[in-house]
Amino acid sequence: MDCYHIRGGVPLRGEYRIKGAKNSALPILAAAVARSGKHEIHDCPRIGDVLVMEEILKSLGAVTSFEGNCFSIDTENIEKTLVPGEIMSKMRSSVFLMGSLLARCGEATIHRPGGCRIGKRPIDIHIEGLKQMGFTVETHDEEIRCSGKARGGRVRLTYPSVGATENLMMAALSGEEETVIENCAREPEIVDLQGFMRTCGFDVAGAGTGSIVVRGGDRRRTDSMYFIVEDRIEAATYMAAVMAAKGQAVFHNIRCELMKEVLKVYERMGAVVRSFGNAIEIIAPERIKSPGFVVTEPFPGFPTDCQPQLVTLCTGAGGLTTIREEVFDSRFTHKKELIKMGANIEICGKNAIIKGKTPLRGAEVYAADLRGGAALVLAGLMAEGETVVKDIYHIDRGYENLDEGLKQLGGIIERRTSD
Ligand code: EPZ
Repeated sequence: MDCYHIRGGVPLRGEYRIKGAKNSALPILAAAVARSGKHEIHDCPRIGDVLVMEEILKSLGAVTSFEGNCFSIDTENIEKTLVPGEIMSKMRSSVFLMGSLLARCGEATIHRPGGCRIGKRPIDIHIEGLKQMGFTVETHDEEIRCSGKARGGRVRLTYPSVGATENLMMAALSGEEETVIENCAREPEIVDLQGFMRTCGFDVAGAGTGSIVVRGGDRRRTDSMYFIVEDRIEAATYMAAVMAAKGQAVFHNIRCELMKEVLKVYERMGAVVRSFGNAIEIIAPERIKSPGFVVTEPFPGFPTDCQPQLVTLCTGAGGLTTIREEVFDSRFTHKKELIKMGANIEICGKNAIIKGKTPLRGAEVYAADLRGGAALVLAGLMAEGETVVKDIYHIDRGYENLDEGLKQLGGIIERRTSD
């Protein structure tokens, strides 16, 4: 089991290129199943979740190769429509395959995805949407079987769920009629999925707004090449690392319009942010100021995937900060580990109340989920002495070589295999 050894108090300086987005790569790789052809997907991050998705795609009959950050997949021989339970339990995003298998084969069987450390994470919005679109959905114990094709018309989400929006976009390809998905999520990764689908010759429009229109029916084999959008959450994490450790850095391959709300909060905390084209420079404040109150919301609001990192930063800010987690029902796993390092954090309902400024001391801490683990790495950069972050397989799921990136900026962080 690998762990990170981090020495705090060393400012970060230099430049780093942001990689392709995990939360775009996963739905795009699933969407490739919807169209028979050879798909070449560039800027695909080499992360744990992508490797699990590759395992699933191969189990369905796809032929894949993953060289560097280029993921190639030939989906001509997709013959299975069952996603095995043991793989589903590894990664919730396999739920996306429901939509793409319905588009390709008119049927799909998945195992109900488990919850995880950040909440129950049901899929009722996915199921309700598929039923509204005209699909037959049967549940047998933990298995969910879907069949049929989209009948066209309107389907309205009760909440702008990112995954449900993406799943229904793909399922809508199964019918000849026009489907309009309303109250859908607006994340940049959904716009990217639309971009990939259009590159494959599908007729999809409206992503990034609250209403997406899909016209299905085209069945021709099409080859495609696509470049995945940059990872705004990786960018926000690295920028938080500069603020945590102090210093100054330029990040390439990131546009500020993908992370306006995050940059606004960082500036409120005293950072100087300059953007030029698709690069952003951040200069850490001498003293971090409290942002006061921050609430997580669907895009374009402050992203829930940046909440744990912000909690860590706020331990270094004077006064009281309230961070309200409105998207997931329990996403404060990092709290007790930060308290071990000297933080003063109370959880009241959906709110984390951080009392700063509390100097952090290096400690042995355990990652419990992806972004909570990243928050502990940032705490290690802030803390006096050495911090050991264990169970970093959680972090490897969503960050490609986080340690290498931080080392490139002068951070003292080393990956070791602990017994
Ligand atoms: C996607 O998860 C992302 N994952 C998450 O990133 C991200 O935090 C989330 O969107 C919100 O932006 C991928 O894209 C692979 P949701 P998803 O459906 O699709 C509830 C990370 O760290 N809900 O928008 O699962 C759900 O429980 C990960 O990179 C239902 O109740 O998010 C949650 O409380 C974490 N019923 C809220 O909606 C449903 O059917 C938002 O979930 C679906 C969701």
